[in-house]
Amino acid sequence: MRPYLWSQAGNPSSVHAAGRRARQAVDTAREQVASVLGCKPGELIFTSGGTESDNLAVIGAAKAGARHGRHIVTTAIEHHAVLFAARALKAHGFEVTELVVDQGGRVDPDDLAAAMRADTILVSIGLANNEVGTIQDLASLARIAHEAGVRVHTDAVQAAGQLDINVDRLGVDLLSLSAHKLYGPKGVGALFVREGVSFERRSFGGAQERDRRAGTENVPGIVGLGEAVKRAEADRESRSAHMRRLSAALIERVTAQCPQARLTGDPERRLSAFASFAFADIDAESLLIRLDLDGIAVSTGAACTSGSLEPSHVVQALGLPERFRRGSLRCTVGRSTTSAEIARAGDAIVRHVRALRAVAAPPSAVG
Ligand SMILES: Cc1ncc(COP(=O)(O)O)c(C=O)c1O
Repeated sequence: MRPYLWSQAGNPSSVHAAGRRARQAVDTAREQVASVLGCKPGELIFTSGGTESDNLAVIGAAKAGARHGRHIVTTAIEHHAVLFAARALKAHGFEVTELVVDQGGRVDPDDLAAAMRADTILVSIGLANNEVGTIQDLASLARIAHEAGVRVHTDAVQAAGQLDINVDRLGVDLLSLSAHKLYGPKGVGALFVREGVSFERRSFGGAQERDRRAGTENVPGIVGLGEAVKRAEADRESRSAHMRRLSAALIERVTAQCPQARLTGDPERRLSAFASFAFADIDAESLLIRLDLDGIAVSTGAACTSGSLEPSHVVQALGLPERFRRGSLRCTVGRSTTSAEIARAGDAIVRHVRALRAVAAPPSAVG
């Protein structure tokens, strides 16, 4: 990325040599991403990240399809970049069905089939959830939508680097990516839009990205995205196996020692990096702070709005019993995480959960 910040800082739209070198770098990145997605380079739009890709996909595809109908189907556990984009369309006369999920976070294909209507124009279902790691059987879901003649978008932001994101095998028409989930830079992503899929642009100005997204390209970011996608795919299986071993060890360590811990998400169909829990009768924010002081970085998955802590929409959609709703902890391992770190993190979680429960719960309930 560094040359494209300094010595090769040409604008890819410029015709002179510096501009052509920048254009070449963008083209190379486009080929790198296309080769992992199994699509044509021209089917990719570079964006400012997963949020923009999701917004563009949902709004761009919905508006373009509006003459055929105004019904969109998504799920209750989508990232807000999808969910809020879909809900925003209601003000423009669209109807949105948010499918419920089972306790593990999986969409029932029969529910999707039942939600299809003559005026349905788009289905948007994330390949894997970003709070609990649950993986959907997207190929089957996409088949149901296509049989009804409906386009399919998937948010693959969390799944990329851990799952196969070949667009034909997934059977999707639109797919969102973000570089920073792949050890790439923040603030850059891509949207795949299958050739022939109608799509309405959301930004106006220059004719960049084949007239689908105006504005000078983020050349260093795009170079970083291309390289990150390529490297993530090259060692995806070995890295996933490593992460699977570590997350399984963390799950085992925590659930064996904390009777009041529940694994959240699907026990089998989950991303290898994920070990997400819900603890009864504790506030996960306090747990997070204690772990942070120990040098362990986790998140709660809970949205924090104006000082009041509400369980996240994902935790709510999983239907956890009330006692568990504030105790949701999202742990993820990475390519450089070690077994020793997992042992330390597991012991710290158990120690702090016990301490918090001793303070919060009546003595008989301490586990
Ligand atoms: C599933 C999912 N979709 C979308 C996004 C948004 O991506 P970005 O932060 O690149 O805008 C994220 C980010 O965490 C995510 O996990």
